Amino acid sequence: MRLDKFLGSQTDLSRKEARAVIKDGLVRVDGVVVTDPGAGVDPLQRVSVAGTELAFKEHLYLMLNKPEGYISATEDRSRPTVLDLVPPELFRDGLFPAGRLDADTTGFVLLTDDGGFAHDILSPKHHVQKTYVATLADPVTEELLAAVAEGIELKDGNRCLPAEVRALSEHTVELKLVEGKYHQVKRMFAAAGNRVVALTRTAMGDVLLDPDLGPGACRELTEEEVSRLKEAGKLAK
Ligand code: URA
Repeated sequence: MRLDKFLGSQTDLSRKEARAVIKDGLVRVDGVVVTDPGAGVDPLQRVSVAGTELAFKEHLYLMLNKPEGYISATEDRSRPTVLDLVPPELFRDGLFPAGRLDADTTGFVLLTDDGGFAHDILSPKHHVQKTYVATLADPVTEELLAAVAEGIELKDGNRCLPAEVRALSEHTVELKLVEGKYHQVKRMFAAAGNRVVALTRTAMGDVLLDPDLGPGACRELTEEEVSRLKEAGKLAK
């Protein structure tokens, strides 16, 4: 890989900034200063910027606690996106949200630059279970829980797969979905004659949203969490 591209993927430097620090003689490859941004580098080589060695990571996996008002996309004309919440030290080229939450939905968004991984956890065939907590306008009833558990028919005639669901309080339910239809949770409860007034995603697979992450905060997933999600993606195939 070109050295400037490598720095763009492994640091918060843009490609332009990477070229500048390389030309300024601040980058060493295996201890030797390299000033050509197009020089080839491979992941087994030691690369340092201004004396700090980079720990090569092929891919990055971040857990974000999305607040309301952010769009699950890499760019938007008028509204802030989930990428705007990633601090510079965790940012790299190619990050995107693996799955979408509505602008008014909060909670766990996984950001990565690993397209294969995103496909494995999201594609309809492999879909990893997602857990949501929904607050409903009207009280939860036994009929409502039974309808969701059986697989509710949406207003457009589409049938949802059976979902694990339980009441947490008079107006809140937890539910686990293994598919990701557009606005699915809101449409499920609308079809059952109720209305979602707040929605948050609390887990992907068996990886729970870290309670230490306040709204808008993010952290890298641990290797163990990434493995658990990869495993869940495989099992769900
Ligand atoms: N279902 C919804 O209706 N909205 C979301 O953001 C996620 C699931």
